[in-house]
Amino acid sequence: MITAYLAAEGFEAELAEELRRAGLGPMLRPAHGQLFITDAEPIEAAWSLNTWFDAEELEVGSIGETARSLRARQRNWSSYAPLHRGRAELVTAKLPHVSGRPLALAEPPPVAPLGSWTMLETGRVLAATRCSSPFPNGRPALQERRQGPPSRAYLKLWEALLRIRRRPGPGDVCVDLGASPGGWTWLLSELGASVLAVDKAPLDASVARRPKVSWRGESAFGLRPNSLSDTEPITWVFSDIACYPQRLLALVDQWRALQPAPALLFTVKFQGATDHEVTDQLRAMEGAELFHLFHNKHELTLAIVGPHRASRERAEPVQP
Ligand SMILES: C[S@@+](CC[C@H](N)C(=O)[O-])C[C@H]1O[C@@H](n2cnc3c(N)ncnc32)[C@H](O)[C@@H]1O
Repeated sequence: MITAYLAAEGFEAELAEELRRAGLGPMLRPAHGQLFITDAEPIEAAWSLNTWFDAEELEVGSIGETARSLRARQRNWSSYAPLHRGRAELVTAKLPHVSGRPLALAEPPPVAPLGSWTMLETGRVLAATRCSSPFPNGRPALQERRQGPPSRAYLKLWEALLRIRRRPGPGDVCVDLGASPGGWTWLLSELGASVLAVDKAPLDASVARRPKVSWRGESAFGLRPNSLSDTEPITWVFSDIACYPQRLLALVDQWRALQPAPALLFTVKFQGATDHEVTDQLRAMEGAELFHLFHNKHELTLAIVGPHRASRERAEPVQP
């Protein structure tokens, strides 16, 4: 079985190390650009933007034959072309058009299967009909808002919500830790949720005056979750704070213990070297998903989103 993992540009070393730590070192072929090809069963690789499952190596001849061979397997394909780019473009031109239309806010991710393929060398292609991301090379096209959000940080949260296929909306009560200047708070409020933003720094005035947004100018580490959820239960907790990993683990634990349990979406920021030990500890938490998004920098996103809670059931259909 062949499984391939695509790293984001600049994060190849993180992915390679993660695969080695999972024992896949001996099954790893020489890197093909940002693509790591293994002769092994898939693992949950946090640093993979897009994982290619059950990839096949195809011996191909002409451009037309390559396109026919892919088309025979399924309709929609996206190419990854660190080599032979011109040839890959000629093949793509012969394949059915795949819409790359940017998504509007609250629009669900595409459900049609999108395969990935690459030309390993002339005459040899690696192709997978089933991939972990519904977006070409794991990169979602989003209709950016030029006016409204005070920074572009909302794109990271938007991508994370697409990834987990859930999002808050009217009726949800969100806590946004490390919220300022307010990109995430802006997005959550735009989706219709009410938001308590927590940050010693103030929110941008345009976000602060939005309806259903309030702000507490204090440290997230001093908050007592129980004291906040007395009136309306908190349904989602977000954090975009840079802090030492052990502090972050404690913060996650504190919010995880709240009953009824809110959904959690936390950025895990690495200062200096990537801490793979912490990654392992976070991944081991019950219900945790850990992923590196296209809009993530040197950081991962942690999601602990249980299947329960009515207001969270704005779930999107999953790719068949
Ligand atoms: C990367 S920024 C967050 C950006 C935000 N998500 C947005 O979309 O605009 C990190 C924020 O964390 C805040 N922060 C750092 N330590 C904090 C703490 N202990 N409690 C609350 N906020 C904290 C900083 O003041 C800063 O505003």
